[in-house]
Order: sequence, then structure tokens, then C-alpha cells
Amino acid sequence: MAWRPGRVLISQEEIAARVGDLGAVIGRDYAGRAPVLVVVLKGAVSFAADLARAIPLPVSTDYIGVSTYGSGMRSSGVVRLSQDLSMSIEGRDVIVVEDIIDTGRTINYLRRNLATRHPASVALCVLLDKVARREVEVAVDYVGFAIPDEFVVGYGLDHDGLYRTLGHLAVLEDRPGS
Ligand code: IMP
Ligand code: MG
Repeated sequence: MAWRPGRVLISQEEIAARVGDLGAVIGRDYAGRAPVLVVVLKGAVSFAADLARAIPLPVSTDYIGVSTYGSGMRSSGVVRLSQDLSMSIEGRDVIVVEDIIDTGRTINYLRRNLATRHPASVALCVLLDKVARREVEVAVDYVGFAIPDEFVVGYGLDHDGLYRTLGHLAVLEDRPGS
């Protein structure tokens, strides 16, 4: 048996439509401002690239790496910074762009970390929200899709480093084969 991308949870077309909507909403909410997208490596890179193009404002982007100890499909909940931003966010309107919220521990850690740098504001935009798995309360400002408790891959999301390059979001399934 082997873990592979299976059933399509969200198609490429559905993703594109939703990302376009999010970009328009963010464009209205931040009209007249120049927010910085803080993109959480590596999972949010595909989403952030499309989202940034859909926001009709002069956005800038920067990247931050967090790692949660553990691999496979369950995280340990212990989070640390593995790569820092390249610029100061002091006085900036920050929009954190993340692929998925599961327990909420990663984003909770990140919010607290960014707050110490005195940004003007911090909002959170997440592609997927696994609502049923939440262990830590998090305020999410923009959500692409609420999804059930299934492990998904594609559109930036991986399983042990694989499947980020799929254009759609698929459920990881254990299937016979090599
Ligand atoms: P949290 O700290 O439990 O909220 O976990 C968030 C992180 O776990 C995300 O940034 C992902 O890297 C990873 N993750 C959680 N669920 C999935 C999934 O279904 N597919 C791929 N990665 C996931
Ligand atoms: Mg990940």
C-alpha cells in the first residue's frame, strides 16, 4: 500500500475562482494601503503567488519559515522559526498567508512572533481551514475553503515533500501499488 493523491477535493477551477474573490475582497479592505504579504514557507507559496496577482494594490511579499517537529500526517505541536523575514514589518499592514490551519498551533505561534515586531496591523488569510481539528483559538480574517478532517495535498500542500505541484487539491489515499 502507498499514500497517493486520490479523490479531487477542490478543482483547479474552483481554486482559481475563490482566490480571485479573496483578492478582490482584500483589495477593497485595504484600499489606499500597501500591505505586505507574509508567506509561510513552503506550503503557501502557490496560493500566495496567485493571491498576490489577484489583489489590485501595490503589495509586497516576504517569506517566513516555520517548522513543526514531526513528519507524516500528524504534527507534534512544537513550532519554531526555521527562516526569518528579509525585511522589517514595523508600521506595516501585514497579511499572513498560510496554506492550511489544522490545530492552529503554527499560526498561533506566528501571530505572537510577528506582533513583537510592531506592525501596524496583522490579518490572516488561509486557503484551507480544518475547523474540526482546532486545538488553539485563532482569529482568521480570510478563508478560502472550510474542509473536513482529511489529509489533503496539491496546490502547495505536501506529504513528506511530494505533490505540491498538483494544480488541484486531492485527498491523500492509501492505495495498492508500488
Ligand atoms: P497546525 O499547526 O496544526 O495548524 O498545522 C498547520 C500545518 O500543518 C500546515 O502549515 C501544514 O504544513 C500542515 N498540515 C496540516 N494539515 C495538512 C494537510 O491536510 N495537508 C498538508 N499539510 C497539512
Ligand atoms: Mg507543510
